[in-house]
Formats: sequence, structure tokens, C-alpha cells
Amino acid sequence: MQHTNADQAEYWNSDTGQVWIDYEAYLDAVMNGILARLLKHANPEPGHCILDVGCGTGASVLAFADVAGARGHVTGVDISPKLLSRARTRTAEAGHMNVTLLNADAQTEPFAIQGFDRIVSRFGVMFFSDPTAAFSNLRKALKHGGRIAFISWAAVNNNPWFFIPRDAAIARLGKPAPADPMAPGPFAFQDLNHVSKIMTDAGFRNVEAKEEHVDLSVAGSARDIAALAMKIGAAVRVMKELSASHEDAAAIEGAIADAFMPYQASDGMTVPARINVFSAEP
Ligand SMILES: C[S@@+](CC[C@H](N)C(=O)[O-])C[C@H]1O[C@@H](n2cnc3c(N)ncnc32)[C@H](O)[C@@H]1O
Repeated sequence: MQHTNADQAEYWNSDTGQVWIDYEAYLDAVMNGILARLLKHANPEPGHCILDVGCGTGASVLAFADVAGARGHVTGVDISPKLLSRARTRTAEAGHMNVTLLNADAQTEPFAIQGFDRIVSRFGVMFFSDPTAAFSNLRKALKHGGRIAFISWAAVNNNPWFFIPRDAAIARLGKPAPADPMAPGPFAFQDLNHVSKIMTDAGFRNVEAKEEHVDLSVAGSARDIAALAMKIGAAVRVMKELSASHEDAAAIEGAIADAFMPYQASDGMTVPARINVFSAEP
């Protein structure tokens, strides 16, 4: 399959995608509060046709399919065959008959014109090579009276989940080369005005954008978060670029665990986070 976002297809189908599968239950727990926010802002109804962009292993597909019900339908689209294959297994196990899973690039896929009542995404729309073209493509797939609602991360410096691993790696190895903060990636949509302009340029109306606080809560300890941070995320990127040794990696993992200790609660970890919530009409 040819992709405009071939680099993203390769990335999400690589070992990184496998980590999302291996840690699926853990990551779903961490991001459960964010899924609840997406459901609230998207406000889906029974009978709706819903498109879930960058659906990954399918947690949000399952949640929206529950609301859409037998009269409705959810299409999950993802560029990674590996993640989508896991989503297929999950939706089949859950017995959902109202789900279609599509391996495609959401930036260019010719979706059914005005085929959907809702387009939703939890962290799946920050990776497009041409965001305006991608959102223009998505807008055409929305029915009149429909709406898009999606969530991205707010600034990294307001998100300990990300800045703790990054800073631990930098403290040990030094700073990596500066990167474009708006380049496709988890923080490409950190700026509310930047994203609102993309949406408006793509033809959306009544664009609403706001930052919200949410807790990332998960069972386990600071050591568990540190172990995951050695497999995906900001520390991994710094360690790769600056060729960390095994000794470096062990020291960084220890520093990450220490820095997350203040977030230990009686029933697990609770890490405050800042997210950006967007909604708009076609
Ligand atoms: C951070 S993950 C989020 C996964 C899922 N939404 C969740 O919250 O668990 C980003 C997802 O977007 C997908 N993705 C990235 N670029 C895409 C594109 N152009 N078209 C479709 N999916 C894409 C990736 O394969 C990955 O599954």
C-alpha cells in the first residue's frame, strides 16, 4: 500500500506499535479518563455512524460502538496493519457486529462523502504530513449537522508523563538537536491557535478549542511507569539520538522512577496531565 504518510505507517507498524500492543491494558488504563472526555465532547447517540481516526488497538472503537448500538456503526481507521489487526481481534472478541476496521491513511482515504455523524480521535490526528489536507478530507466525510471531536496533548512542559522521562535522559546524556515543535508527533497539536487555524483553513466552522486537566491513573508503581518509558516516548528518542549505553539506560530508568514517586497514590499512580480538546462542524 502506498501512503503519503509512509514514515508514520512504518513507525506505527514497527517495534513501537508492538509496545502499544504489549502494554495495551496498561495504556488503556492510563488513558481511560481521556476516553471519557472524548465521549463527553463528541456526544455520540445510538444509531450514529462514527469514524474513529488513528484508532490504534481499538479501545475507543469499542467504547463508541457500545453507544452507537446495533442501529449505528463505527469505522476505525489506522495506518498501522499491526495495530489494526489487534483491534480486529478485540472487536471480534467483544462480539461487535457494528464495527468496520480499515487499514488506510486518513489524510487521503476517500471516505464516503457525508457518511458520518461523528468523527472522533484520541491522539490519532497529530501525525499527518499535511494536516490541512487531512482535515479537509475528513470534513467531506461529515454529514451536515455532524461534528468532529478530538483530543491531543497540550504542551510537553505541562505533562509530567512526558517531561520527566525527557528530562531524565537529557540530565544524563545532554540535549538532542532541536526539533520542529509543530512536526508530526505527539505534541504537534499542543498550540490551540495553530490547530484552530488548520481546522478553519480546512473549511470547518464553529471551531472550539480548549485545554483541560485530566488525571492519568493506573495501578502499579513509579517503577512500572519508568519501565514503559524505556520502551516508548521522549526518553527513548533522546537515548537513540545520543547513543545511550546500557549503563546510561539503567541510570535514566532509575531517575525516572524516582521522579514519579511523588505521584504514587494508595491505589496506584495518579499523574496530572493537560490535554487539548477540539470540536467543530463541517
Ligand atoms: C498515539 S496512537 C493513538 C492510538 C489510539 N487512538 C489510542 O488512543 O489508543 C496514534 C495512532 O494514529 C495512527 N496514525 C498515525 N498516522 C495516521 C494516518 N495518517 N492515518 C491513520 N492513522 C494514523 C497510528 O498508527 C496510531 O495507531
